[in-house]
Amino acid sequence: MQIYKVGGAVRDRLLGKPVTDIDWVVVGATTEEMLAKGYRPVGADFPVFLHPKSGEEYALARTERKNGRGYGGFIFHASPDVTLEEDLIRRDLTINAMAEDDQQNLTDPYHGQQDLEARLLRHVSPAFAEDPLRVLRVARFAARYAELGFTVAPETLELMHQLSESGELEALTPERSWKEIARALMEDQPQVFIEVLRECGALKVLMPEIDALFGVPQPEAHHPEIDTGVHTLSVLEQAARHKQPLTVRWACLLHDLGKGLTPEKEWPRHIAHEHKGLKLIKAVNERFKVPKDCQELALLVGKYHTHGHRALELKPSTLLELLQSFDVYRRPQRFEEFIAACEMDARGRKGLEQRSYPQADYLRGAATAARSIAVQPLLEKGFKGPELGEAIKGERLKALKAYKDQA
Ligand code: CTP
Repeated sequence: MQIYKVGGAVRDRLLGKPVTDIDWVVVGATTEEMLAKGYRPVGADFPVFLHPKSGEEYALARTERKNGRGYGGFIFHASPDVTLEEDLIRRDLTINAMAEDDQQNLTDPYHGQQDLEARLLRHVSPAFAEDPLRVLRVARFAARYAELGFTVAPETLELMHQLSESGELEALTPERSWKEIARALMEDQPQVFIEVLRECGALKVLMPEIDALFGVPQPEAHHPEIDTGVHTLSVLEQAARHKQPLTVRWACLLHDLGKGLTPEKEWPRHIAHEHKGLKLIKAVNERFKVPKDCQELALLVGKYHTHGHRALELKPSTLLELLQSFDVYRRPQRFEEFIAACEMDARGRKGLEQRSYPQADYLRGAATAARSIAVQPLLEKGFKGPELGEAIKGERLKALKAYKDQA
């Protein structure tokens, strides 16, 4: 049997990027031989094994044919007579379809190295269409390698377009899609992911609520970039630039969905868009079975981001409601993430990226003031149950009034 390094490990070594996990392909072996050598079988779908010591993935060379819709609709053929070239041709991109032996000799039948140099994300063959998840993968790679100047080859974009129109994307499971989305959002230029999805028509299938924001104007005085879609991408870009976690990036992407529902005659104003957007945020959250912390923050940021921007003008009672809604006493981190999302929203405006955001410290100070209330004296006064709750609220309100007066 011959063993080759394949996929991302070869690509990233040639790009001079750090290689984190290594995938291997095994040519000329049978399942029985692998088991005899101590490899552990994984995955019911494909003949993939884990190395007994390193735990890295070793897959038998295989060919794939699609015989149905979605990811389940595969038949594969793995046998010792499948060649390396046959295994490589079923892969997604030419830059991912190179193999290397233990002497670092490259096997590159589909000219991946040439495409690396040309900074092109190009599909290997029509077999690309056999897994619609690849539409998201290409957009993710475009985001990851944008800073190196990579773009999607026109013929690949065309194929992604056809796949998006074919209804195949709807067959993806929420789990597979979310995994790609989450990884893409954590790249340095996540906005490129959304741009590429939009360009190939996948955005209007996967997240029509975001697609709908493009072409929707906002008042130029607050939003010099005008277009709501452009603004959303800038907010996401800022979130990445400021190294925000996934929760914040997800909330940034969804915060203005309500603006897509404003009747044209009301443009460029978007009255109550925060509230109107909530059902859309919920729908997107559910579509991809998004993790709970991301879901929650997106809804809270959607509902309250304007409160964040107006923090310095809020009445103490409104400030208190805001802090209560976030349960800032038990969930301080979530409130920090809200503040971060609001700040990214403010910075994601053309020409205002560097402007300071005093609301952030003001909100932090308000949270500290409300949190500083001592419960013990109220207990000593005999308050209990709902009355105690009301008394605590009253004290917090007093503290917020004092905070606002001295701020
Ligand atoms: N692959 C593919 N189609 C997919 C998933 C994977 O063709 N839908 C192939 C590609 O050749 C890819 C390899 O399997 O390079 C390994 O896949 P994976 O580990 O998911 O990606 P990497 O390319 O290693 O990229 P990353 O750095 O994002 O992990």
